[in-house]
Amino acid sequence: MDLTGKTAVVTGGSRGIGRAICVELARCGANVVLCARSAEGAARETVELCEAARAKQECGCSALTEGESQGGQEQAFQTIAVPCNVADATDVKNLMETARKAFGSIDILVNNAGITRDGLLMRMKEEDFDAVIATNLKGTFLCMKEVSGVMMRQRYGRIVNISSVVGVHGNAGQMNYAASKAGVIGMTKSMAKELGSRGVTVNAVAPGFIDTDMTAALSGDAKGKMEEQIPLKRTGAPEDVAKAVAFLVSDEASYITGQVLGVDGGMGI
Ligand code: NAI
Repeated sequence: MDLTGKTAVVTGGSRGIGRAICVELARCGANVVLCARSAEGAARETVELCEAARAKQECGCSALTEGESQGGQEQAFQTIAVPCNVADATDVKNLMETARKAFGSIDILVNNAGITRDGLLMRMKEEDFDAVIATNLKGTFLCMKEVSGVMMRQRYGRIVNISSVVGVHGNAGQMNYAASKAGVIGMTKSMAKELGSRGVTVNAVAPGFIDTDMTAALSGDAKGKMEEQIPLKRTGAPEDVAKAVAFLVSDEASYITGQVLGVDGGMGI
């Protein structure tokens, strides 16, 4: 996929699937603006990995830190990390403004930031429900709202929202998470209809069981049982999801919108 000259904003890019997406988009030539709760530590590591991915292509790019600008699009390849809570409208506004100031446009938005607060309904606290909805669903809404004007004006845009196999099929103990991820699919289809006439595609990716910090708590035994139920007999890697995202934001996917692409080893069949 060639994303040279495109600017991508990726939420929750400090680790896991978000990090793999940032690195893959950078490898394809995009400027990457990643956000996480903090722009230091793990987020900085992602910036370095993005730059290393570019260096392998010998493109001579360099990393910027938050607030630095190299004068619009003069430098073809760059990465910046911005601290942002996606559930906070002011933070999201600042994120998108920083991206536009640094690179002049936003062509790609990947809504990846997500959390879980699992528990059976009877024991689920109201704050656990609210927290998951705020990050996973409202965060996606705020980010799409903030970039849709930019994308409509430029008559080009690619939005990918990370949902989950759980948003399609549900899961005991994850009612809040399933509701948020099902909501993301509803939003994706609605936005695809709203923005299609302006050249903006909106799709969702629904990962299955992917090896990240989010799923690390599962015991070896439970993981083994899970793998048995997956047709491909293995859990996925963050890079499996990143490749699907890179395709959906590329020109090769220009006639695909409003879809939910499962990246789950067949788990959702
Ligand atoms: P993770 O927990 O490893 O990483 C989540 C990222 O989101 C981190 O960078 C974190 O800082 C960021 N984040 C969390 N809350 C945020 C907030 N309010 N504002 C900004 N950033 C925030 O999770 P993982 O596994 O990489 O998941 C990424 C996405 O993929 C999530 O939306 C998750 O629901 C989804 N997913 C993951 C699956 C898995 O098996 N790991 C399966 C299906 C979907």
